[in-house]
Amino acid sequence: MSEARLWEAARDVRENAHAPFSHFKVGAALETTEGDVVTGCNIENATFGLTICAERVAIFKAISEKKRGFTRVCIVTDTARPTSPCGACRQLLWEFAGDIEVVMGNLEGVMARRSMRDLFPMPFDEGSL
Ligand code: THU
Repeated sequence: MSEARLWEAARDVRENAHAPFSHFKVGAALETTEGDVVTGCNIENATFGLTICAERVAIFKAISEKKRGFTRVCIVTDTARPTSPCGACRQLLWEFAGDIEVVMGNLEGVMARRSMRDLFPMPFDEGSL
């Protein structure tokens, strides 16, 4: 799939974000090795701590649909600078997707690309146990 289609999927699902507290809407689109796309948006909660990020919604949806093996994730926000995944999402992305490409964009298009290895060096994972 083209990077543009992945970006479109992240941009579109961002509209579904439930972000009444931060008003910071995030869309994420996760590409599988089979070429499927699983999307997620952030879902906030009045207790704040139960809020879940767009990336984690996408990864949990994918795992619950028995999808395994991922190639890229695209994250879209309405910002001038790229939004990179938070620490919790980096841990989850690393464990379930490994060293995938992280594409970051805004409503106009893609702004940055990084590898998970670059974003999450020296991880704690199953090899650490
Ligand atoms: N958020 C995400 O969904 N993904 C990120 O990569 C950064 C932060 C959400 C969580 C919260 O709903 C809002 O953005 C503000 O932190």
